[in-house]
Amino acid sequence: MTSISVGRCKPARGAALTEVTCCLKLGQRKCYSWHVFASRQLLFRRLHTRWPKNGYLVRNSIFHGSKPLGKTYDEDQKRRLEVYDLFLKCITSLFFLVAGRKPVASDCVQLPISGMALSNTHPSNTILDQGSVLEAVNLGLMKVGDSRLIPEFSRSIPPPDIPPVEGSALFYPSAGSDLLTPIILGLPYCREFFFYDNGSAPIPLLLEKTLRRLRGVDLATSNRFQGRRWRPEGAEFVFSFDHSGVPRSLRWIKQDNKEFLNRNVRLSFYFHRGDSWGEGGSGQCWDSDLFPKLLTRMPSGESCVFLTDGEPGGLHDAVRAKSKEVRVPSLRSDTRYFYGLLSSEVF
Ligand SMILES: C[S@@+](CC[C@H](N)C(=O)[O-])C[C@H]1O[C@@H](n2cnc3c(N)ncnc32)[C@H](O)[C@@H]1O
Repeated sequence: MTSISVGRCKPARGAALTEVTCCLKLGQRKCYSWHVFASRQLLFRRLHTRWPKNGYLVRNSIFHGSKPLGKTYDEDQKRRLEVYDLFLKCITSLFFLVAGRKPVASDCVQLPISGMALSNTHPSNTILDQGSVLEAVNLGLMKVGDSRLIPEFSRSIPPPDIPPVEGSALFYPSAGSDLLTPIILGLPYCREFFFYDNGSAPIPLLLEKTLRRLRGVDLATSNRFQGRRWRPEGAEFVFSFDHSGVPRSLRWIKQDNKEFLNRNVRLSFYFHRGDSWGEGGSGQCWDSDLFPKLLTRMPSGESCVFLTDGEPGGLHDAVRAKSKEVRVPSLRSDTRYFYGLLSSEVF
């Protein structure tokens, strides 16, 4: 028998929204990606027979009875609407895939971010809804493929259950305004976030808007400076807040990336992407030549999580040997990332 996972009409807290968009379950209990399915006419025959009933159930749960306007803000109702919306977009995309067209809309549809990214204990809670993710992408605080990258990474490297220790740091050279994804991925590991960029980009003031919607964030402890959250401290701007009761600081540093190597920190997460030889990039090979120096910022015997696209200059052999690879859709072509765990003894 074929079933479609969106058929759950009352979404329990455990409903995996990301799977709704990526997989259909067949009787054999195997999951296939949309792309594999698309080539199979069988799918369409099955959809044809099953979708009307499942769609009807989800749709009924959304509109059942007379719902006052306030119900739109109800968590379960929001989830139903997200599921229904995602399903319709994916069904539409299937028709384009079958006609041999790519990229398709489903590749770029934003997914809600589940609690799996932050904790093993509450994986099913949504920590950032679909609308906020879309807004973050539009503001340049996140990239199109990130709502797929985040669950992929967190499934492969589950976040630790214990809170990060004092001084634990994330480093992102040539960060621009690409701040939200490293913050989400880094929260289970780090208290301090070092974002370097010596360009002329303005302070990412709009980050506050998205950050306050991220579950677990408490801005009450954040000091303001002239009405702004980003407080100037020499060549850097600091934004403090609490997450899960633990103080965090974002540092947006207007200096050369290499200044980070002078800092006395406990490097716990290295994040890097979008850098290049030209076009405003640093031309610094952080993932190869500079990698051994970077790892001197790690206390010996500890490990450091990394996620990088390896540009510019490619990936050091020792790093490549320890890394997993993932491809996520982006606007032009798929983006390839390498990620894993490293210790300073690797070199
Ligand atoms: C192509 S942008 C990438 C931004 C971001 N990583 C992203 O993916 O959206 C490269 C950035 O590197 C910054 N940059 C270039 N050379 C740098 C250096 N030596 N130190 C710090 N930042 C640098 C530029 O200002 C620019 O914002």
